[in-house]
Amino acid sequence: MKPNIGISDKNLQAVANILNTLLADEFTLYVKTRNAHWNVTGDNFHELHKFFEEQYEQLDEIMDEVAERVRMLGHFSIGSLNDIVKNTRLTENKADYGSQNKLIKGLLDDHETIIRAVRKDIDKVASDYKDAGSSDFLTGLMESHEKMAWMLRSYLN
Ligand SMILES: [Fe+2]
Repeated sequence: MKPNIGISDKNLQAVANILNTLLADEFTLYVKTRNAHWNVTGDNFHELHKFFEEQYEQLDEIMDEVAERVRMLGHFSIGSLNDIVKNTRLTENKADYGSQNKLIKGLLDDHETIIRAVRKDIDKVASDYKDAGSSDFLTGLMESHEKMAWMLRSYLN
């Protein structure tokens, strides 16, 4: 049954598309952060191993919320690796396990890419698609990424 929540079908579809693209980004960054957790090496291995674990757990929660919000809008979330690879705005270069700084910088760049994209979507979703709920949701999500980005940035000079 279609949601009757005061947003047109066309606008619900447009917001669902925005959220599914974001879901692909979140999933990709989740995998990259898990990869860092598994394969980081160096002096402070244990500290970073735990740190990356905290971050991928947060991303796990975020992507669950994004997928479920797509469902709230009456659409299906993407759920295959194929669709994730096809839709993500992030790139997957071969990670440099030998350099903690490069590993951290790579993840930081991805968080910042997501933050910049979501910042634009917050306005678009509110003004073009009249979906205050999703705009508010994206604002909270962006703040979570801003905090994760700060944590990563703090390891770098
Ligand atoms: Fe683990």
